[in-house]
Amino acid sequence: MFGASVGAHQVEGGNTNSDWWWWEHREGTNCREPSGDACDFYHRYRQDVEVLAGLGLNAFRFGIEWARIEPAEGEFSTAELDHYRRMLAECREHRITPIVTFHHFTLPFWLHQMGGFACDRFAELFARYCDRAAGALGDLIGYACTINEPQGLGQSGYVLGINPPGHEDDREGAERSTANLLDAHRLGSAAIRARAGIPVGVTLALPDLQYEDEAVPGSSSLELESRVNDQFFELARKDDFVGVQTYTRFRIGPEGPRSPGHDWSDTTRPPDETETTTQMGYENYPQALGGAIRRAWKSTGGGIPILVTENGIATSFDEKRVRFMDAALREVLVCMDEGIDVRSYLYWSLLDNFEWSFGYAPTFGLVAVDRQTFARHVKPSAYWLGSVARARAMPAERS
Ligand code: BGC
Repeated sequence: MFGASVGAHQVEGGNTNSDWWWWEHREGTNCREPSGDACDFYHRYRQDVEVLAGLGLNAFRFGIEWARIEPAEGEFSTAELDHYRRMLAECREHRITPIVTFHHFTLPFWLHQMGGFACDRFAELFARYCDRAAGALGDLIGYACTINEPQGLGQSGYVLGINPPGHEDDREGAERSTANLLDAHRLGSAAIRARAGIPVGVTLALPDLQYEDEAVPGSSSLELESRVNDQFFELARKDDFVGVQTYTRFRIGPEGPRSPGHDWSDTTRPPDETETTTQMGYENYPQALGGAIRRAWKSTGGGIPILVTENGIATSFDEKRVRFMDAALREVLVCMDEGIDVRSYLYWSLLDNFEWSFGYAPTFGLVAVDRQTFARHVKPSAYWLGSVARARAMPAERS
């Protein structure tokens, strides 16, 4: 499968009943700007699915939003589930396999008030939501992703204070959150499988962590997250696939991770993109995808299919995006030659969208979105990926 990904909160717009909406409007957070109408994808998804299909892509990963589907505890909205059914049907009409994320960072505000990820009932409530959503939508879903990148949610929300609920140094909260998220994946995936019988997995953030010779493995937040990923890999051995999401490598030296060269605590000053770095301040290193795929394959015992569910670059130079995808896809081919079962390449992101606390400054999209009119403008890189998908082969090596 060749396609692209989006996350519900980042593109839909007006997700007012969520913890992130609250966070974006709160004084003193690190948010650059609120999400507002985002890409108005909630109303314009038909156009986006058409664009995707027209390019020759055959898979689309998008999210369903818990805060809309269950606006108050235990109250499920048939109208919102119908909305997502129409989206799924639109994909099917265009012969696009829908890959659906049940949870992508945001929580319903009522659950945030009950303690969010750290709430004792988190896993049980997530499983109930999965059961209801899979019951209403499962027959149209191709692949279900339970939780997006759970490894960092405890750290960023409870220790670093850079995500909701914004706690700092609440290590106990972080630990409880991680334990609850592991349980939530276990119970949620079982609920989806039982209700809809579709392939289920978790999608993990897997930067390529490279240790320099003299590096002493320590407890930097990157390494802590990596250990949480290991726990999810254990669970993923029983799953139908594992989602790999990779953007760059991080090198770990004697003093811990080498600084990416930009102070991310001030999101009002986005990093300057250079030839060797991206708009996120990351090293432009598409080869990271190979290391990440191998790690996921080995850590799940070498038999669980891999879906590359996110891979991309934030850049204002579209030709740089083409080079990035070209190099990343060649890594995928090498992995497949080694015998690794890789089933998809989904570029992040279909649209220039809301990059969380960084707002709309970073542009990851294959398609640009006018912030006033929401008009879509398809970039050359989108046509490039479409041509690879149609040919099912790489173009000649680039010089
Ligand atoms: C997340 C996306 C995010 C992307 C680019 C991933 O970690 O799943 O929500 O926009 O990276 O930073």
